[in-house]
Amino acid sequence: MTHRSETDLAILENVPLAPRTTLSVGGPARFYAEAHTAAAVRSALGWARERGIDVHVLGGGSNLLVADRGFAGLVLCVHIRGIDMYTSNGAVHVTVGAGEPWDGFVARAVGEGWAGVECLSGIPGLVGATPIQNVGAYGQEVADTIEHVEAIERATGDVMTFSAADCGFAYRDSVFKRAMAGRFVLTRVTFRLVPGGAPAIRYGELSRALAEHASPSLAVVRETVVRLRRSKSMVYDAADENHRSAGSFFMNPIVDEATLARAREAAAAVLRPGETMPEFAAGPGQTKLAAGWLIERAGFTKGAGDGAVGLSTKHALAIVNRGGATAAQVVAFAAVVRRGVRERFGVTLSPEPVLLGFEARETSELLGHE
Ligand code: EPU
Repeated sequence: MTHRSETDLAILENVPLAPRTTLSVGGPARFYAEAHTAAAVRSALGWARERGIDVHVLGGGSNLLVADRGFAGLVLCVHIRGIDMYTSNGAVHVTVGAGEPWDGFVARAVGEGWAGVECLSGIPGLVGATPIQNVGAYGQEVADTIEHVEAIERATGDVMTFSAADCGFAYRDSVFKRAMAGRFVLTRVTFRLVPGGAPAIRYGELSRALAEHASPSLAVVRETVVRLRRSKSMVYDAADENHRSAGSFFMNPIVDEATLARAREAAAAVLRPGETMPEFAAGPGQTKLAAGWLIERAGFTKGAGDGAVGLSTKHALAIVNRGGATAAQVVAFAAVVRRGVRERFGVTLSPEPVLLGFEARETSELLGHE
């Protein structure tokens, strides 16, 4: 059955979500709508509000784990498209619809010679999702270039503008994940890019891969990032045996000095000759550790896991549905990995993907502090 709301928005029922996520697990959405305009977003929100129905905004589905029972509310896909720009004071201000594919926008920026997002090449998903977890890779994150974010307040339908400072960006984090979680639907994002600017070459692995280029162009950086990502199965490609994943399943943990000391001590017991534990400064008294390294050195090597769920054969931080997996199996396997890292290193990993439709008891092991 199809409901029609005032702006002729089609609201479908019992729509499978697994095919709309890169992990390809989970059940259906009780209700499902695609909104191509801000007015349609508002209409869908009003429809759900009148009926007391929860709303989840779905982007590209590349950072989402849906429970096997599915989601009992309305899944709203924001398909607002369009790229508009103006230049001022040597910068180009590019406003991008939330429903534009992220990598298409990056390709456009690189093609135009606008610097600022070139290291974020090859990332799946839609533009509107990128501010929420401050998407980052290879030394860049969207927080570096976001000027403001336009959003609709769910409760009122009002359009609001958030400056970059209002967004409270941090590593894989923003107010949209914390204080403002569930309160807004992002409709447009404005980036401040630099025409003719130099590419950002800050990440060790990227600068090593570019060593033969004296001053690489944005296009060369884009190609190189895509090549590096592909070598780790971090470009969505249905021909890749590791393609059913949500990218990094855990965030890289940021630890205090006491936890770092404990992890170093534990690492000393497993280091290979000449090897050091990867550590990155993350502010006063804070160090970012590499979750992929901790997972491997806790004994979960690439390709670990013998059922339908396991680690990617190319990158220990990605959990892969090898075909036919359930969400419950993904959660159970992730909890085992997380426990192994905690037991070996005393470091607690937090999942990166959004978990949708789960009951608290089903994810307590994966999210709990004990
Ligand atoms: N490592 C291992 N084993 C592995 C994977 C990594 O030992 O299986 C070690 C590497 O040798 C390196 C360190 O861990 O010393 C970091 O690895 P890598 O450069 O592959 O990056 P990452 O920290 O695992 C992060 C992001 C990725 C992003 C890359 C590149 C997070 C959670 N992940 O991964 O983002 O593409 O850096 O910048 O911050 C994502 O968020 O979904 C994602 C793919």
